[in-house]
Amino acid sequence: MRIAVDFTPPLTLKTSCLVLGVWQDRTKTQLLKDLDDSLHGALRLSVESGAFSGKQGETQLFQAGAGVPAARILLVGLGPFEAADAGVLRRGAAEAARVLQKQHVGEAGMVCPESPAKLNPAQVAQALAEGLLLASYRFDRYLTQKREELPPLLESVVILAAQEHVESLAAAVDRGRLICRGVSLARDLVNEPGNVKSPEFLADQARKMAARHNIVCTVLERDQLEKEGFGALLAVARGSARPPRLIVLEYRGGEPQERPVALVGKGVVFDSGGISLKPGEKMDEMKMDMAGAAAVIGAMEAAAGLRLPVNLVGIVPAVENLPSATAYRPGDIITSLSGQTIEVLNTDAEGRLILADALTYAGRMEPRTVIDLATLTGACIIALGHEASAVFSNHDELARNLMRAGESSGERLWQLPLWENYGKQLKSEVADVKNTGGRPAGTITAASFLQRFAPEGPWAHVDIAGTAWEDKGTALCPKGATGVGVRMLIDYLEQV
Ligand code: BES
Ligand code: MN
Ligand code: ZN
Repeated sequence: MRIAVDFTPPLTLKTSCLVLGVWQDRTKTQLLKDLDDSLHGALRLSVESGAFSGKQGETQLFQAGAGVPAARILLVGLGPFEAADAGVLRRGAAEAARVLQKQHVGEAGMVCPESPAKLNPAQVAQALAEGLLLASYRFDRYLTQKREELPPLLESVVILAAQEHVESLAAAVDRGRLICRGVSLARDLVNEPGNVKSPEFLADQARKMAARHNIVCTVLERDQLEKEGFGALLAVARGSARPPRLIVLEYRGGEPQERPVALVGKGVVFDSGGISLKPGEKMDEMKMDMAGAAAVIGAMEAAAGLRLPVNLVGIVPAVENLPSATAYRPGDIITSLSGQTIEVLNTDAEGRLILADALTYAGRMEPRTVIDLATLTGACIIALGHEASAVFSNHDELARNLMRAGESSGERLWQLPLWENYGKQLKSEVADVKNTGGRPAGTITAASFLQRFAPEGPWAHVDIAGTAWEDKGTALCPKGATGVGVRMLIDYLEQV
């Protein structure tokens, strides 16, 4: 989709549809009055009859007639003005895109709404761009026939603003576009089916992404992983005919001597549970068990596109968890890269095993901060549902910064405790640690397991099990992968 910024007065714009965001408590602006005059009072009638009040989520479409050059007018309710945040504008723009697509409108003008207290005009424009772009994401590469319910996507939008803002808003729209490119990549990777998405496929995609940017991609194959002693990662990989990979991405946008931020993402391309096999219902969704990896690869793409002034390493352990004659089994004792031994009680708690080795490996990069993202536990969905990811950290400031980034990017996080006592649930009689801590606080004991392998220094773990997959579809995201993590990470990295 093309998104331009222009200072054409809205009521003189020739367009298929002129879109106006309307604040619930500001339905009498000069622009709306002028528009109402051009529409012979249709707007006022609509507001007075209660058909449209400016509440969030409301939309009203008019055929415009001769009074204005626009063919249609679309009003989008934005709710109360003062309290509005970027999420309100993101959703408003997405809602508009949804209505326009349904109407088969390929091109539109959108009046940039007045900035509420929490946002400057550039942040408003970035949010609009994100809303438009996220709403027009589709995973249709395997559809060989046209579908009625999938009309052509919106092709071009002009955002209308005051002349003095045009330049800064255009830059903000570009930022939104670069971030959404990362989100779309992450969504594509997660939506890709398991038969296509081998560990090598993920490595290939990472290589291709790196080649588009100033990023170095190194991929360790099975023999190298064996030589180095990635015992936990290799144990999980043993059940699959498709060999594992460790993908390492390096982006150097910061000072040469500055230590990198390490981003580590769980890359289980399909999680059947292994010998501790999962129930069949919804097992298909376990192709999304590499959403942490996708977030890391997507965030690296966005960071490089934005030329963020930071050094980053992305580390993705990529494996498939299947039962077979060569699979690892409950009761096995394995030796991780860190040297710690692990008693495997459940082969379905595989994510923490591959992350253990990846975290140890991350330590070799001498990172200043380590952040891992993983669809780690079903218990996380029980704790927080689909509204927020869980965050854990050994460093409160890091947790706070990530939560703040989550709030402003629209990808919420909520901190759960990492008290030492939880670690007791992982005590093994025969090894240094066991890989499950029983039912109570399953999300926390998984985090506590990871903490044993995290390198020294600030580390955070983000469990995205409840947020990586959209069950029904919303204005901002069709059913399927959400690409969660990319926007939050970029927001965080922009502030550090
Ligand atoms: N990938 C799953 C967690 C998951 C479940 C992600 C549902 C997204 C949606 C993970 O590997 C897993 O199976 N965890 C187990 C751990 C248990 C065996 C200790 C779980 O949550 O049941
Ligand atoms: Mn599992
Ligand atoms: Zn898993």
